[in-house]
Amino acid sequence: MKRIKIVGGHSLSGNINISGAKNSAVALIPAALLSDEKVTIDNVPNISDIDALEEILKYLNADVIRENGKITIDSSNVINKEVPEAISKKLRASYYFMSSLLGKYKYVEMFFPGGCSIGARPIDQTLKGYKALGATVKEEGNKFTISAEKLVGSKIYLDMPSVGATVNIILSAVKAEGQTIIENAAREPEIVNVATFLNNMGAKITGAGTSTIKILGVEYLGSGYTEVIPDRIETGTYIIAGALIGNKLKVNNIIPEHVNSLLDKLKEIGCDMEINDNSVTISKINRGNPINVKTLGYPGFPTDLQQPLTVLLTQLAGISTLEETIYENRFQNVKYLVDMGADITINEKVLTVVGPKNLTGMNVTATDLRAGACLVLAGLIANGQTIVDNVEHVLRGYENIIGKLTNIGAEIELEEYN
Ligand code: EPU
Repeated sequence: MKRIKIVGGHSLSGNINISGAKNSAVALIPAALLSDEKVTIDNVPNISDIDALEEILKYLNADVIRENGKITIDSSNVINKEVPEAISKKLRASYYFMSSLLGKYKYVEMFFPGGCSIGARPIDQTLKGYKALGATVKEEGNKFTISAEKLVGSKIYLDMPSVGATVNIILSAVKAEGQTIIENAAREPEIVNVATFLNNMGAKITGAGTSTIKILGVEYLGSGYTEVIPDRIETGTYIIAGALIGNKLKVNNIIPEHVNSLLDKLKEIGCDMEINDNSVTISKINRGNPINVKTLGYPGFPTDLQQPLTVLLTQLAGISTLEETIYENRFQNVKYLVDMGADITINEKVLTVVGPKNLTGMNVTATDLRAGACLVLAGLIANGQTIVDNVEHVLRGYENIIGKLTNIGAEIELEEYN
């Protein structure tokens, strides 16, 4: 197993470059399977979630070349077979393959996907989408068998703007007959990235980035190219690091608009920031105003930044609140922050954080990806040494986190342990 050791208190300065977005890349790679020609995706982050998807691609007999952040996928020899449960359970995005295979072959067998344990995470909206397109869904234990004689475009209203269901319906409808309309679609930038890539291959998708997405089915998808957009959650995590202990820390290669909800909260706190076209430069906040935050789908405040932000709330002078509206179990980091010295109470979906409080380094555990990121941030400002166990979760989503933080002045290392 792996753990991260941090000696807190070192100021962070210089430049940190943001990698391609995990949550885009994990959808773009399965989307590539829909093509009958070679496609290339650039700026792919080097993280273990991508390794898992590469494993699935190879298992399905796709030809894959991955080097220097670029992945070229040729799906012309793909064999549509059941992916073993042990592989599909490694990450949430494995179910995007379910949709690509269904869209391409009108038949798929796939196990329920994995992902962080942060709540129930049902996939009913995806299944509703498949059925609306004319597919039959058979569920046996953890396994789904989905088949259709043909897929026919339909109008689908999502009960909630689910990122996963929006991507899944796009992938399964892109080669269906006629037009599919998704109402109450998720508006995340990652969805725009996926739609742009598919359009580059020959798909006809309009409205991605808005609540109504229209997909006019096409018969053939050819070669295509795209770049993964900068990771807005990695961006936000390092911007928060800058607000915690930065000295003119420049977070580079970003799309500031994608983190507007965070930047707006940082302005409310009183952070000293310089926002440019593709970077934000930020320094440590001294005390700062408390804030109230509520997580929402994009363009609202992202649930994925809620845990990292909690560390910053512990440093503000006064009472802050944070309401988590997307997941039922995304406060597993709080126990550890309290052990480190934070004053946080949980009342159902709402955290109340009283600050400022000094944090003290200790042994903590990453229960999920963003909880791990939160604890790394806490370690950066804590007195003494923090050891974050179970950081495989963190390595799933943050490319070269040790190297990037070391470069800007942190004292941090990765260790193996039993
Ligand atoms: N939901 C349902 N039914 C569904 C689908 C979703 O009830 O059929 C609920 C979920 O339980 C959740 C909410 O709707 O309460 C939103 O879920 P969504 O489908 O939008 O999430 P997701 O697609 O499973 C992606 C990201 C998550 C991120 C969420 C929200 C990927 C691979 N994962 O998950 O990222 O938190 O959108 O923005 O794109 C992370 O990176 O740490 C992470 C968990």
